[in-house]
Amino acid sequence: MTVSSSRSWGANRRNLKGKVAVVTGASRGIGEAIAAALAAEGCRLVLAARSKDRLEEVAGMLRVRYGVEVVAAPTDVGDEGQARKLIETAAGHFGSVDILVNNAGIGIYGAVDELHLNDLRHVFEVNLFGPLAALQAAVPVMRRNGGGAIVNVSSIVGRFPQPLGGGYTATKFALQGASGAARAELKRDNIDVILVCPGLTDTEFSQHSRISVPGAEHRQGERHSLGQGVEPARVGRRTVAAIKRGEREVYITLFDRALVWFALHFPGLFQWALVYVTRYRRKRFDESGARKNRRVSPN
Ligand SMILES: NC(=O)c1ccc[n+]([C@@H]2O[C@H](COP(=O)([O-])OP(=O)(O)OC[C@H]3O[C@@H](n4cnc5c(N)ncnc54)[C@H](OP(=O)(O)O)[C@@H]3O)[C@@H](O)[C@H]2O)c1
Repeated sequence: MTVSSSRSWGANRRNLKGKVAVVTGASRGIGEAIAAALAAEGCRLVLAARSKDRLEEVAGMLRVRYGVEVVAAPTDVGDEGQARKLIETAAGHFGSVDILVNNAGIGIYGAVDELHLNDLRHVFEVNLFGPLAALQAAVPVMRRNGGGAIVNVSSIVGRFPQPLGGGYTATKFALQGASGAARAELKRDNIDVILVCPGLTDTEFSQHSRISVPGAEHRQGERHSLGQGVEPARVGRRTVAAIKRGEREVYITLFDRALVWFALHFPGLFQWALVYVTRYRRKRFDESGARKNRRVSPN
């Protein structure tokens, strides 16, 4: 067991070499990219997701490419006990946890008046309760070590509502609220709480999202994004920069930042525009066959 040297986090977060980072949802997409960006800084890593094989593959690739120690810890963060155990495993193996990246997340699409509430409960378990359980387990460990950073990966739609994505939006609004409170509460412990709000990013996110409409319970989504997103690697690099600077809230592109600014400063106009967005998204949603297909697929 190696003991980390993070005695005063604020003073040495600029150099992440040797720090211990736990990244959830690290088997692909944004989580994999954040893990790679942390490995490039010399962090020792604990990677979590449900798919063991893919996780081992990513861990092996990072060990070879960056020469850092990487542990694959298959975990379902939708299970509170497993989310807490993940932190125990990391602290047990490395002697500390300096950085926790709560990235694992899933989407749920459907009109608010039609959403299956059990589907939505499951998405809340993964997107909100899992991250909060991991945070609660990590804080005492970070306190003992003089501080650390907790990164919660939200979304720009954690700042404004997304028609036909109201359930997903609700999980990210909730994560935003809890993160803001935790940031203030944990300041005295030298624990940074950073909210990362990506916009559209080129991952498999939409394929793994749930479509929750009458007659299509638990159905997983197809690719139905509004266009080409940014590379996950860009989100990874930006997240690491935010950890090193102890930033509060992070946007990836100027467009994302401008959209959020507009939504917050012109709520009436934004709500009016959303009516038109709803029509467009409903058409795209119906075209994807979500309403016709009655297949049930577990996720
Ligand atoms: N892509 C976008 O446009 C976008 C935009 C804004 C925000 N985000 C946010 O970014 C985060 C990452 O999304 P992504 O785009 O990288 O999606 P993704 O490609 O679908 O990756 C999601 C990751 O989370 C893991 N995961 C899902 N459910 C899990 C569970 N119950 N327990 C543990 N791990 C779980 C997945 O692995 P397993 O399936 O193996 O468990 C995978 O590693 C999410 O929080 C998402 O809300 C994405």
